Amino acid sequence: MNILLLGSGGREHALAWKIAQSPRLDNLFIAPGNPGMEAYGQCVALSPRDFAAVEAFCEEKQIDLLVVGPEDPLVAGIADHFHALGGRTRVVGPSKAAAQLEGSKDFAKAFMGRHGIPTAAYRTFTAATLAEGQAFLETLAAPYVLKADGLCAGKGVLILDSLDEAKAQLAEMLDGKFGAASGQVVIEEFMSGIECSVFVLTDGKHYQILPEAKDYKRIGEGDKGLNTGGMGSVSPVPFADTVWMKKVEDRIIRPTVEGLAAERLRYEGFIFFGLINVDGNPKVIEYNVRMGDPETESVMLRLQNDLVEMFELTVSGNLDQCTVSHDPRAAVSVMLVSGGYPEAYEKGKVISGLDKVEGSVVFHAGTARDAEGRIVTSGGRVLAVSSYGANKDEALAHSFAQAQKISFEGKYLRGDIGRDL
Ligand code: AMP
Ligand code: GLY
Repeated sequence: MNILLLGSGGREHALAWKIAQSPRLDNLFIAPGNPGMEAYGQCVALSPRDFAAVEAFCEEKQIDLLVVGPEDPLVAGIADHFHALGGRTRVVGPSKAAAQLEGSKDFAKAFMGRHGIPTAAYRTFTAATLAEGQAFLETLAAPYVLKADGLCAGKGVLILDSLDEAKAQLAEMLDGKFGAASGQVVIEEFMSGIECSVFVLTDGKHYQILPEAKDYKRIGEGDKGLNTGGMGSVSPVPFADTVWMKKVEDRIIRPTVEGLAAERLRYEGFIFFGLINVDGNPKVIEYNVRMGDPETESVMLRLQNDLVEMFELTVSGNLDQCTVSHDPRAAVSVMLVSGGYPEAYEKGKVISGLDKVEGSVVFHAGTARDAEGRIVTSGGRVLAVSSYGANKDEALAHSFAQAQKISFEGKYLRGDIGRDL
């Protein structure tokens, strides 16, 4: 089996690590990939958004499976492009229409409404209905949640304590603060609780539930400061016990997969349910049509199945033919980021100490090679140090100890990952 994996972050490095363990794999290519993935496959300089170039590469290398890491090509319709070709290459990823679950908050909210899936109450506004939106805000209690409808690379959600600020931000968003993505804005009820990320693979009819994880989004310890792409993750999540996960499956996962099928939204890929535990009851904060980052960097450690086999069952409609087994150990991931992130930061800092790490897997999130072949920083999130442990504390202690061996100028990490659980 020949596989092309699209993406270049820690999520894709973790997927590549897992894919490379499969005896079913012949050749793995990653586009564009990063230096950390060179050990598992060949990195090729292709843009995931250039469908014609991806198609030509798949033809040349006889690619059987195209695994799409990030949401952007999916929302742009890469799966449909390959469905229309009808050739050898099958895609792990939803159709463009189904990817609207992530590509449009309004679409996702309306979908949940149609299928009775628990989520925050909401209304959607446009520039033409700004006054109604501001009046709607007056009927709500603080904090106010405003969401740009379209993709904003994780920056499109504002949570505001002041009514005046919320009204002003609504006007700014509808006036193009996030470009076309905020041409529509969803205003929703604030939900209070602890978040949990739940992942499934679905072939459109059946699904398999992967290990869940908790992500740490804020830059500062104690969950303070700006939102980031994610500063670490922990799996399993203690409150996601059998009783809670049964509620998630009955109220959220099954209705979602059945809803997609009933609406003929073609889906062969990962669904990421961003959930919040409100007084013991799971509610959906958001859907993503891909795996989470940095959740994948702990979830892949706990998935005991052959991922390539699961992908084959996904694209052939036979996912009912496997049973998922979760490693009983805990797995965690601690992100090392560039100083200044998520605001301005410098790149090109030489990374040292990677060869001293023992007993952890270091996934590269934002690295590159400089002219001399050294590994240097090339993004805000640089490395994810993932470890197993008998429990999360043991796993975290191991990741923190290994993280100390790695250095680059400006390195920062959150030392309180997992402490709230
Ligand atoms: P999203 O991009 O929809 O995941 O939102 C980003 C983050 O904002 C989430 O991970 C939550 O921490 C927070 N958030 C979003 N919607 C709500 C809500 N309705 N109530 C409380 N927090 C929310
Ligand atoms: N960790 C959250 C995300 O991948 O969107």
